[in-house]
Amino acid sequence: PYKIATWKHYYLGLIGLIILLKTMPKILISDAMSNVAQKIFEKNNISVDVKTGLSEEEIIKIIPEYDGMVVRSATKVTKKIIEAAKNLKVIGRAGAGVDNIDVSTAKEKNMIVMNTPGGNANATAEHAFALIMSVLRKIPFANETTHKGQWEKKNIKGTELSKKILGIVGFGNVGVRLSNLVKGFDMKILVCSKSLETRKSEYPHVENASFDDLVSKSDILSFHCKATADGKPMLTKDHLKKMKPTAYIINAARGNIVDEKDLSDALNEGLVAGAAVDVFSKEPAKENVLFNNPKVVLTPHIAASTTEASIVVAEMVANQISDFLLNGKKLNTV
Ligand code: MLT
Repeated sequence: PYKIATWKHYYLGLIGLIILLKTMPKILISDAMSNVAQKIFEKNNISVDVKTGLSEEEIIKIIPEYDGMVVRSATKVTKKIIEAAKNLKVIGRAGAGVDNIDVSTAKEKNMIVMNTPGGNANATAEHAFALIMSVLRKIPFANETTHKGQWEKKNIKGTELSKKILGIVGFGNVGVRLSNLVKGFDMKILVCSKSLETRKSEYPHVENASFDDLVSKSDILSFHCKATADGKPMLTKDHLKKMKPTAYIINAARGNIVDEKDLSDALNEGLVAGAAVDVFSKEPAKENVLFNNPKVVLTPHIAASTTEASIVVAEMVANQISDFLLNGKKLNTV
């Protein structure tokens, strides 16, 4: 026999729903990313709001409602935001670098910070390789002038990779991938990495070397490391003076690793031949000393921006945060 639902049943149902919603963990996604992340949270019964382009003040106002926060690089998760976040347990970075998150304040407040190492390593390494080829073969200049009907054939002479030395600074996921990508190009690969000595047997195609060795010997010097702890550049005028005048510098890691003013001077003085740069000391870069230098190829921090990588990092961060909030599992904490 079926009983007709009375207002009491509806009332109890409503109370139950309110309790469920109140106990459901709540996530704020504050940067644009693949909607795969949102779908994973929803599948895991985690409530999720996507609110991008918010100012620090706007985030401070709403952050107390959230248990977790997901960012890419646009949101700066500042001390003020973290201090206002009364319920926040986890901050997830869909990407590798966490320099836009005040990790030490987060740790003081017992929050977990997670990233997605490796998720965009192939994309970044492929872009670094594209930058190498672009600057060595002068592709942007050739493209621009050919489109304009200027036949610059006589003025464009490229440089080959074969028999050259590639210096890779930093041998994490991206550096390793780049070293594998260039395997067919008949290059010698020197690597500067503190951790390489203990895992050398895995990488017989590279040689361990000091930073000074890389500076003086590389034909192409490519950075794939974190920024220094004090934010000071790793490559300055003193190093640039010791480089081959035919050498090229590639930076797809972080803008402050290479001193931009020193690099600009070195290019103008002929200390190095060219550079290709995806990252800037100040982003978004609206003005920069490297702008309009014909020896420099520039891209707007897009090394990791591929269809494939954006899905992978969104998936990784959403799964990791769900697993932490629902099961207490900590993966890829920094
Ligand atoms: C990273 O840290 O993962 C890359 O710089 C790409 C990004 O900005 O997300």
